[in-house]
Amino acid sequence: MRRRPGLTAAIVALLLFFVACSTKRSPALTDPKGSEAHTIAGVWWLMFGLATAVYIVVAGFILVAAFRGRGTEGGRPSRVRDSHFIWIGGLIVPALILLVLGAATVHASNTLRRPEKDPLRIEVVGKRWWWAVTYPDQKITTANEIHVPVGRPLEIGLDSDNVIHSFWVPQLGGKLDLIPGQHNVWRAKATKEGTFRGECAEYCGLEHAKMNFLVVAQSPASFDTWALRHQQPQSEPTSQLAANGQVVFMRAPCAGCHTIRGTTANGTIGPDLSDVGSRLALGANTIPNTDGYLSGWIVNSQTIKPGNLMPPIPLSASDLQALVAYLRSLK
Ligand code: CUA
Repeated sequence: MRRRPGLTAAIVALLLFFVACSTKRSPALTDPKGSEAHTIAGVWWLMFGLATAVYIVVAGFILVAAFRGRGTEGGRPSRVRDSHFIWIGGLIVPALILLVLGAATVHASNTLRRPEKDPLRIEVVGKRWWWAVTYPDQKITTANEIHVPVGRPLEIGLDSDNVIHSFWVPQLGGKLDLIPGQHNVWRAKATKEGTFRGECAEYCGLEHAKMNFLVVAQSPASFDTWALRHQQPQSEPTSQLAANGQVVFMRAPCAGCHTIRGTTANGTIGPDLSDVGSRLALGANTIPNTDGYLSGWIVNSQTIKPGNLMPPIPLSASDLQALVAYLRSLK
């Protein structure tokens, strides 16, 4: 059997493409779960369809040319004049394709980011390299995890107090920059429940690639439950270990940079940790939220996310264990 490395590579690439598009956790824009994302996906598929058609026609011409041979003794001359190719293939068809794409893009852009009635307002500030999240009407502060109710329009205000970042949740809507000194508003509406990955889409420094977040779209009832719990102050630790951990938190440098609702810790340099125990991931969706990863992060987060603003925190084994128990108890 003859080997065809080119063909094998093409098939593998195609399979990888479809696996990437179909994987549940993938943030592919071809798997829209919101009204804006559906519009964007429509334009994407139109472009893909037209590009495929052009590819097939051009590949067909190449095959015809290859099999027909030259217009000399050995082959037949073409029945189509060269100028026809240039007029039709070089001008008319490309102009029509661009016209269709232009009209579709303008139409899609006009429907995106249109203000809707009764939106849920959320403010997101891009930090190095994480996302501060507040709900001004509900008086909720959190980080890197945005809970939203399905079916309600969202108005997410975007700001930055450092460099330019870009907010992108491919399954819910398009990219929008967070620019220092300029307030942008990202609008979308989740139409399906689920956890959707978002990421920073503008190179912003050392840990740009680890500046991710999650959008948790849930039923209005479970969103209300989430919101209600986040409006209550943190209850006192229930176990002795967690109580010891709270003492460690207040004594160590932690409280100077982080806030925990209902305590004296009110630092704003790092993420609000009031609900850190219930978050799905740590380090701006870089590592899983488990005891082990959290311990590693506290002791030396620089090994996990080099360049982040949190210095290594040397703690005794018992202090670390207590601190982790305390943080994990914060829901
Ligand atoms: Cu923030 Cu890239």
